[in-house]
Amino acid sequence: MEAAVLKHRTELLATTAGTCLLVALLAWRLLEVLRRRWFELAAKIEEVDATHRQLLQSEKLAGIGQLAAGVAHEINNPVGFVNSNLGTLGNYSQQMITLLEKCRAGQASESDFAAADFDYLRRDLLELLNESREGLGRVKRIVADLKDFSRVDHAEAQEFDVNAGIESTLNVLSNELKYKATVIREFGELPPLHCIGAQLNQVAMNLLLNAAHAIAEHGTITVRTGHDATHVWFEVADTGCGMTPEIMQHIFEPFYTTRPVGKGTGLGLALSYDIVHKHGGEIRVSSQPGEGSCFRVSLPRTDTASVS
Ligand SMILES: Nc1ncnc2c1ncn2[C@@H]1O[C@H](COP(=O)(O)OP(=O)(O)OP(=O)(O)O)[C@@H](O)[C@H]1O
Ligand SMILES: [Mg+2]
Repeated sequence: MEAAVLKHRTELLATTAGTCLLVALLAWRLLEVLRRRWFELAAKIEEVDATHRQLLQSEKLAGIGQLAAGVAHEINNPVGFVNSNLGTLGNYSQQMITLLEKCRAGQASESDFAAADFDYLRRDLLELLNESREGLGRVKRIVADLKDFSRVDHAEAQEFDVNAGIESTLNVLSNELKYKATVIREFGELPPLHCIGAQLNQVAMNLLLNAAHAIAEHGTITVRTGHDATHVWFEVADTGCGMTPEIMQHIFEPFYTTRPVGKGTGLGLALSYDIVHKHGGEIRVSSQPGEGSCFRVSLPRTDTASVS
């Protein structure tokens, strides 16, 4: 009898041990599968992150390309007329030298001066010089604005004058905006903001370009700035086409665009959202279809805002 009980217990023990082993084996296999999936997922996240960074970079490059085209146009105009003035001034100089040589040889007469239209030459020469000086001044200002806009010397977060940043962005974009809109500035007094200025300029640029694109013929873009105890803000309001609530739901998604194929990449607002978010701020949007839109960027006023 005892032997039978012992045998039964042994069998039970063996079955239990077997089951435990099986469960342990299954758990181990499950863990192994989970571990593999985890690594796969981590690799995918890294891949998505790298693609995201790449996309933001290509949007930046597309923005720079667009900007370069506008700036080239702005610079081309003064460079064009300064070049033509230099040609005319070259002719004038030649005529003057001929006259001076005749004077030196004691052979110049009043009729030589009249033939060279000396009085006109003298007047026009000064006018051409002044015009050329003004043209080169314009080129110098454009280059300075461009440098301010890109803030090449300041890639790190530091004290930044938001009004000045918006002003240089408006100047750099003047070619894109002037045919589309009258720009109204309603700038408030602002305390310096601890941020990466070039990035904020890029946000302002995206909002201004979107505003210009939303206007079909000619409209108004109003740029306002201000601050309260905790935040500095700036906003770009336009009298463009506006957005339906359905469109507004998607505007910050990468690649969402309602612009024709090949015109927009749909990354401008995604990039702007990223930048503002990194500065601890937010972008608010209000819009009415057919009436216009207003984008407000609000950034915390703190010297310790973590900017990554
Ligand atoms: N001011 C605005 N008025 C009307 N619609 C707007 C405005 N700003 C943005 N949108 C809408 O949001 C979409 C996404 O804007 P976003 O700037 O991200 O991309 P995009 O302008 O289409 O292309 P890009 O990459 O060249 O900026 C636009 O296609 C447009 O539908
Ligand atoms: Mg855009």
